[in-house]
Amino acid sequence: MTDKIKEKANLKLNGDLYDFDVHEGTIGPDVLDISKLYAQSGKFTYDPGFTSTANCKSTITYIDGEEGTLLYRGYPIDQLAEQGNYLETCYLLLNGELPNQDEYTKFEETINEYALVNEQLNRFFTGFRPDAHPMAIMCGVVGALSAFYHDSLDINDPEQRRIACHRLIAKMPTLAAMAYKHSLGQPFMYPKNDLDYAANFLNMCFGLPTEDKNVDTTLAKAMDKILILHADHEQNASTSTVRLAGSSGANPFACIASGIACLWGPAHGGANEACIRMLEEINSVDNIPEYVKKAKDKNDPFRLMGFGHRVYKNFDPRAKVMQKICHEVLDHLGIKDDPLLAIAVELEKIALEDDYFVEKKLYPNIDFYSGIVMKSLGFPMDMFTVLFAVGRTVGWVSQWNEMIEDTSQRIGRPRQLYVGSEHRQYIGMHKR
Ligand code: CMC
Repeated sequence: MTDKIKEKANLKLNGDLYDFDVHEGTIGPDVLDISKLYAQSGKFTYDPGFTSTANCKSTITYIDGEEGTLLYRGYPIDQLAEQGNYLETCYLLLNGELPNQDEYTKFEETINEYALVNEQLNRFFTGFRPDAHPMAIMCGVVGALSAFYHDSLDINDPEQRRIACHRLIAKMPTLAAMAYKHSLGQPFMYPKNDLDYAANFLNMCFGLPTEDKNVDTTLAKAMDKILILHADHEQNASTSTVRLAGSSGANPFACIASGIACLWGPAHGGANEACIRMLEEINSVDNIPEYVKKAKDKNDPFRLMGFGHRVYKNFDPRAKVMQKICHEVLDHLGIKDDPLLAIAVELEKIALEDDYFVEKKLYPNIDFYSGIVMKSLGFPMDMFTVLFAVGRTVGWVSQWNEMIEDTSQRIGRPRQLYVGSEHRQYIGMHKR
C-alpha cells in the first residue's frame, strides 16, 4: 500500500495552528490525515454518514463517482463482466492479480472442495419457518459457520484467514440455495463440481434430485455477470460493517454475517427487491408521472428505488452492464413485452429528463435493472438481496483480510457530538 505525503494542510482554531499531512493515493481525491487532531486540539470532526471521511487505505476497488468509473484492482468493471468470469474476479480481488491457467484451475478446485457444508447445518434450516425471509436465514446460518470451522478462526494466522475466505466464497451459494429450497419445501441439492460457480448455484436453486436437467448456459452466464457486478464496491455500508466488526478481532464468519445484516436494508442491497415492488406498484406506464411527483415531494417519504447513489453522480457503470444483461436474458427467454421492463424503461427516460433528478444528479444504479433480470432467471423477490450477498462475499472477505494485514488499523471507534443532558443528580421515583 503506497501513498505519499504531498503537502501540509493548516487549520487555524482559536488562534492556534495545526498541521495535517495531505496524502496522495494512486488515483482519486487527496486525503487529509486528521488522526492526531483530537490529541493535539481536543476537537473531534463531525461527518454523519462519513460523506467526507476515508476510514482506511485500500488497494482493492476504485470508484470515480463523477466519471461513473468502477475498477477492481485497476480493471474496469465492464471488461471483467464482458470478458472474464466470476471466479477469476474472486481470485483477482483476493490476490491482487488475475490468475494464470494453473492458478485458476487450482483456485477452482479449492472452491469446489469447500462448497459442501457440514451436514449438521442442514438441521438449522428446519428451525426457520418456511416463510422466513431468506436474508434472515442467511444472517443466522453464515454466523453459525463459526461454530463448525474452528480450524479457520484464528485471524492472526494468514493460512487460516485464507481458508476462511475460500470457505465463505465456496459455501455462500450452497447456503443461499438451501435457504431458497427451504422456502419451497424441496430437498436441498448438493453442489456439483463439474459445473462452474454460477451454473452450480442455479442448479442448486432450481434443480431437483429426481431430474437430470442441464443448466441453461445463457442464463448461467447472466448469473455469472450479476455476481461480477456485485463482487465489490469499495467502502459501502456492508463492507464498512464487516471492517468495523473485524476491527475488534471478531472471527470472519461472524464479520460476514454482520455484513449480510447491513446489506439487507432497502437503502443498500435491499433496493433491488424494493425496486421491483415499486415497479409493480406503479403498475402502468400511465402512472409514472404520479410516482415521479411523489419522489420529488419533500413531505412524501417515497423515493424512486434504483435511483441515486452516495458516490455516483453519473450513470452507475454497473447499471449499464446490468441493462444489457436484462435485454439479453429477456431476448433469450423470448419475453417480448415484459410489463415491468416497459415501466422501468419509461421511468428511466422520464427521470433522466426531469430537472429534480438532473440537478441532484440522480441516475439509475445497479438495482434498477437487476431485479428484472433476477426475476426472469426465476428467483422470487425475497431472494434478490441474497444473490447480492453471494456476489459481494468475495469483496467482504478481501476487504476484511486487507484490514487485518494493515498494521495501521485499530479497533473502529467513532466519537460523537453529545447534545444530551448535562451532568445531573438522580431523583428517587417518589419525588419525580
Ligand atoms: N428518489 C428521490 N429523491 C432522491 C433519491 C431517490 N431515489 N435519492 C436521493 N434523493 C434526493 C434526496 O431526497 C435528497 O434531496 P435533498 O437534497 O433535497 O434533501 C438528495 O437527493 C440527496 O439524497 P441523500 O439521501 O442525501 O443521498 P445519500 O447519498 O445519503 O443516499 C441513496 C444515497 C442510494 C441511499 C439514495 O439515493 C436512495 O435512497 N436511493 C434509493 C435506494 C437505492 O436505490 N439504493 C441502492 C443503492 S446502489 C446499491 C448499493 O450499492 O447498495
